[in-house]
Amino acid sequence: MEDLDVMGQRVLLRCDLNVPLRAGQITDDHRIQAAIPTILALLERGARVIVCSHLGRPKGKVVEELRMAPVGQRLEQLLGRPVEVLGTVVGEEVLAASLSRADVILLENLRFEPGETANDPNFARSLAALADCYVNDAFGSAHRAHASTVGVAKLLPSAAGSLLKNEVEKLSRILTSAERPFVAVLGGAKVSDKLGVIGNLLHRVDSFCIGGAMAFTLLVARGEDVGGSLVEKDRVDEVRGVLAEADEKGVEVLLPDDVVAADSIDEGAAHETVDLAGIGGRLGVDIGPRSAERFAAEISTAKTVLWNGPMGIFEIEDYAAGTKAVAEAVVEATRNGAYSVVGGGDSAAALKQLGMDDQVSHLSTGGGASLEFLEGIELPGIAALTERKNG
Ligand code: 3PG
Repeated sequence: MEDLDVMGQRVLLRCDLNVPLRAGQITDDHRIQAAIPTILALLERGARVIVCSHLGRPKGKVVEELRMAPVGQRLEQLLGRPVEVLGTVVGEEVLAASLSRADVILLENLRFEPGETANDPNFARSLAALADCYVNDAFGSAHRAHASTVGVAKLLPSAAGSLLKNEVEKLSRILTSAERPFVAVLGGAKVSDKLGVIGNLLHRVDSFCIGGAMAFTLLVARGEDVGGSLVEKDRVDEVRGVLAEADEKGVEVLLPDDVVAADSIDEGAAHETVDLAGIGGRLGVDIGPRSAERFAAEISTAKTVLWNGPMGIFEIEDYAAGTKAVAEAVVEATRNGAYSVVGGGDSAAALKQLGMDDQVSHLSTGGGASLEFLEGIELPGIAALTERKNG
């Protein structure tokens, strides 16, 4: 971003302000907070900033609940200066606003326009017409090849913002220069979402601690009975192969051997902590305390920790203990000098719920984007900036 001459220029700034909303209220503003330094840096250098983002998945139509207005309000509070929130994404009115004197403008939800996710060249041109240059600071959307992340980067002088640069640096350290022992803690519902990351980390880590519903597919691959727990049956063979590879490489894979077993995933359902062997027909909704202790002991040996995904249905108080224990262990390891990276919306939310979000080395703003980055996949939003620079 420092390479761009932005004095007196209109900068189109793509942020990822895709924040969770409940009844029109923002429930977690981490992504808006993270966008502030780049906006301020651009303003300080004399730029006028046209901020744009998507919010949710409105599928190319106007969805009233997904308007950017609440995001604009929060942005204004955090910036401490007025933000002009526009009711449309492109067109005459927006063009006129981009030429007006307002220092900070926020465009309406990019995904109200079908051309955004289609990376339509005409829509990209309309966006480019609003500005003199483009800064991409939307790391969380860098895995999407959309008009505002890829198309527009090819049409204007372009650069990476400080958030995007920081994410790439912090996550790259995990892949290129992680100090050993390196422990990867993975959780979440589906093993299929994490197989790419496991594959890319297999020759980099010393051990995996795996919880969440994804652990049940691994347990089945090891021949265990997991009762009525969520299992991706079509992935069991693949997972067996991954476990064999881990064995060959001497990478330990720690899986839960006790669980919280419930009659259903609903809040208030009957539940108890049992050895895995005693799960019966019930389903696992959290790792048990003995597993949590084993995972915490493993994490305490680490010089590098990556954590992605909760250990259970942590949104329900009764099933949050495993995730809490892992969060505490990651924070403790960080205190003792380990480099810790937490990625994925759910683990970030869990850390925040526990008031520990500022106690790890890096809390990524990316969900899918950080996973794909750690899978070693080239993210189109980043590639578009590099291509422009090189070409
Ligand atoms: C995210 O929340 O991971 C990003 O904002 C991308 O959103 P998407 O998955 O709807 O593209």
